Parts: sequence; C-alpha cells; structure tokens
Amino acid sequence: MSYRTIDALDAKGKRVLLRADLNVPVKDGRITDRTRIERLCPTIAELANAGARVILCSHFDRPKGKRVPEMSLRPLVEALSAALRRPVAWADDCIGPEAEAAVAKLQDGDILLLENTRYHAGEEKNDPAMAAALAKLADAYVNDAFSAAHRAHASTEGVAHLLPAYAGRLMEAELKALDAALGNPSRPVVAIVGGAKVSTKLDLLGNLSKKVDVLVIGGAMANTFLAAQGHAMGRSLQEAELHDTARAILENAKASNCEILLPADLVVAERFEPNPPTRTVGVDAVPADSMALDVGPETEQAIEARLRGASTLVWNGPLGAFETPPFDTATVGVAEIVAALTQSGALKSIGGGGDTVAALRHAGVADRMTYISTAGGAFLEWLEGKTLPGVAALTAS
Ligand code: 3PG
Repeated sequence: MSYRTIDALDAKGKRVLLRADLNVPVKDGRITDRTRIERLCPTIAELANAGARVILCSHFDRPKGKRVPEMSLRPLVEALSAALRRPVAWADDCIGPEAEAAVAKLQDGDILLLENTRYHAGEEKNDPAMAAALAKLADAYVNDAFSAAHRAHASTEGVAHLLPAYAGRLMEAELKALDAALGNPSRPVVAIVGGAKVSTKLDLLGNLSKKVDVLVIGGAMANTFLAAQGHAMGRSLQEAELHDTARAILENAKASNCEILLPADLVVAERFEPNPPTRTVGVDAVPADSMALDVGPETEQAIEARLRGASTLVWNGPLGAFETPPFDTATVGVAEIVAALTQSGALKSIGGGGDTVAALRHAGVADRMTYISTAGGAFLEWLEGKTLPGVAALTAS
C-alpha cells in the first residue's frame, strides 16, 4: 500500500483541506467521548505549526442533505480549540461564498472548521460539483478520517482526485496498525470475533478464516454456531436461519487450515438483567429455560492458551453481554491477558469496530493494547477484506 503522508507536503502558506472524522458521540448536547478529537490534534497541530492554513471538514451524524440544527458541527469549535489550546474559526457552510470568505481571512497557521459536509446532498452522492467546490477552497488535501474511509463521498473520495492528496498522521497510524494485523502480520495470528449476530459478520468471518491461524468465536454469535453443530441452546439468542451458513464457515475454515475455537462452556441465566442467578454449564447442558450470556472459564483458558502461542491478535466484538454484569467476566479476563502479553512485548494487539472499543475501555485495557482503532464500520469493512474508497483514493494519487 503506497500513499503520500504529510512528510511530503510543503505546508507553509498552503490552504490545506483536512478531512477529519468529527462524528463524535454526543448525549444531551455533550460530547461523551473525545478520542477522535484527541487523535486528530497531532495532524492539525503539525500542519498549523508548519504554516499551513488548516481548513477542517467533516460530517456529523446523518442529516441527509438538509440543514438539521442538532447536527451542526458548531459545538466542535470549542472542543477542538480546548484540545489544541488555540483558536479555531468557524464557517457556517462547507462550500460556497461563506466558506470561501472564511478561508480568505485565514493567515498562515490559522485553523478553520467548516459546517457539516452532509448538509449538502452532493456529499453522500460523491457529486463532482461538490468535490470541485471543496477543492476550490484549498491547495492540498489531507485525509485523516480513516473511520469514514469506507464511504465514497465527495469529501472522502471525490476531492482526493482534484488536489494533491496526503494521509494525515491518524490515517497513517490506522493503516500501519491494520497492515501489521492482517496485511503483513507476524504469525501465528489469532482473531477474536464476538458480538450478537453472525448475519452482520458473514463476510468478516469468511475473510478472517482465510487469513488468521486461529479464529475465536464468542458472544451470542457463537450460539448460532453451537446450535448448527447440534447443541440445544435453550432460550439463547441465535439465528436459526443461518445454521447452514455457520456450517459452511466452519468447513471453509478447515479447508484454509484455520482453527475455529468455539466455546466449550457457557455462563447461563434464566433472565437477562444485572446480576441474576447464573450457572456455568458445558455446551451440551444449556437448560431449556436459560440463555447463554457469556463464555465460561474453560473457554477463557482455551483462549488464553492460544494467545500465549500467538504473535498478533485482532479483536472485534465482546465475548459476552459485557454491558450487564456479571456477563463481562470473560471479556475482562481475556482483555487482561491480552494487555499483559502486549506489555511484555510478546503480542501485537489491535482492536476496533462497533462496541469493541467500549468493551476494551470497560475492561480498563485500552491504553495497554498495541493499537485501538477509532473506526467502527470502516474497521469492519477492512476486516471483511474490502477496499476502502477513501484509502484507495489516497493510494491512487
Ligand atoms: C463512524 O462514526 O463510523 C463514521 O463517522 C461513519 O459514519 P456513518 O456510518 O454515518 O457514515
């Protein structure tokens, strides 16, 4: 994968359009997680320090081409300014006269945030006119939004063909981590895939089973595999219509020499609520009135044994219903082992996608893994082996 980084950009005096992903979680008007902002700051600061006029653009939520006031990026001015400890100017539109006037006022080293790109229908349509209007604002384009790179939109893809294009530091870090995980990994590689549904991860499981040495399947999706193998799963969440598919995934994995590790024991309860009475049972002994909500200690030990023999781990999805205690036990236990092996230098550990980051944070290991991706859907699509248009546009330029 070859792409230019900002090392190759002579930024002094240039207007640089920086595509960020400021689609941060917000509850009751407050930003609940600033990770994406913090991870973006080094690129902004580096460009501004080099004398660029930094023009930040991003989508926020899904306004579908309309100006939806609650989806304005305006509150991000203060958040960015606080994180960067410098002023950030604002433009009420991302293209057209308002944006152009705000850009014209910039001095070298200044930072400007543009309004939500998705206020324009042309963004998601990757309309050439929208891409051209964005390109008109700048001399160079830097993409630091790996987490939006699975979208072929005007600000993530179209504009990259109209300006000299570069990967920002966060994009670079994400691509390096992903390459170390699956592109060119040290082996053996273990993947842990959890979460609720097989149906949302079919392509991912298919691709991983061709690339990794051991594929650990946990979470409710393991129930579908166990049921497909003939185990009675009681009232456990599962997808009965996917039993044939699950068996095909197991067969294909065998043909690719990938070991699939399914749970040997499960923690079950009659009710899904915090701290109900639980039992640990073998996969052959799930009571008819109970549901599996976590993998058991024997399974945890089997995962630990695979991790001790591994060089690389890719983790996507929790092993149990981690948000409801005590069904976080296996996820936290395995996360602790991963963190210890990573810190000892024995394991390269990369996690991301969906609620994986929340689960690893909950386990308190987010700072002790090799890399945690800021991406949700993009991380999943990359695990599926798909080409991400935002990345492809950078490698093409
Ligand atoms: C994300 O949060 O995963 C990205 O910002 C992409 O958002 P989207 O799913 O609305 O395109």
